[in-house]
Amino acid sequence: MQLFHTLRELRAFLDGCAGNRIGFVPTMGNLHAGHCQLVSQAKNRTDIVVVSIFVNPLQFGANEDFGSYPRTLQADVEQLRAVGADVVFAPGVDEVYPDFNGQDLMQQVIVQPSSLADILCGASRPGHFAGVATVVTKLFHMVKPDLAVFGKKDYQQLMVIRSLVRQLNFGIEILGMDTMREPSGLAMSSRNGYLTAQQKNQAAQLYAQLQGMRTALQHGRRDYIALCQGSISVLKQQGWQVDYVEIRSQLDLSEPSEDETELVILAAAKLGSTRLIDNCEVNL
Ligand code: PAF
Repeated sequence: MQLFHTLRELRAFLDGCAGNRIGFVPTMGNLHAGHCQLVSQAKNRTDIVVVSIFVNPLQFGANEDFGSYPRTLQADVEQLRAVGADVVFAPGVDEVYPDFNGQDLMQQVIVQPSSLADILCGASRPGHFAGVATVVTKLFHMVKPDLAVFGKKDYQQLMVIRSLVRQLNFGIEILGMDTMREPSGLAMSSRNGYLTAQQKNQAAQLYAQLQGMRTALQHGRRDYIALCQGSISVLKQQGWQVDYVEIRSQLDLSEPSEDETELVILAAAKLGSTRLIDNCEVNL
């Protein structure tokens, strides 16, 4: 397995792999079994798998956890070796953002995603998806993959990236993989590491609410607003600070009509200072 920190090294290697299908898994590191599953899926479908590890400053708000986000390159590299990745690309900020001094965003070329990015997490984290769209666009230009794999835990992110790829004519196949969960049902996430042992037990409550809502929808409930309000009240009673619990259309995250059959329940809520997101598709 190769580890590169510069674009020059990465391109020198990949240019020598002409004729191979390139699979790509972009990450911010601090890898867990969910990331490893994305790599395995990429391996099953392509010849050479590149994994990027880059904590992207542009997608964090001023009061968010960019500074404290866990950076565990050595352990990540070992996991990726074990799972059979071919290349790890771990660039520095200067490599990805050549003119960025960490302050002046006005000097940056920013990729502005479609209005999909303005709702749900985009409403509470202004600029977040523009940061994601910008870094993913840059990484796609650097790696030039045939296939890129993303987790469905970041459901809205996956939809923003699909629309980015379609509208910017990238010609890259995007594969979305189901969320890997702890035995408790808690979605695997690098941010779970911020939780205390007690909070980690409690965190499974979020997915339990989504599952309860899915069952209610499967039994014919269509009072979406009341269903969401019910879960929000329970979560608040359990000590969560709820950002949103919403039922949306899988197609475009719009508010669904009563006869819509492909729904997704999405939630974001904080336990202490840790913001967790989760979702659950419902196919009726
Ligand atoms: O999902 C993530 O880890 C990040 O948002 C991504 C896609 C690697 C972009 O920084």
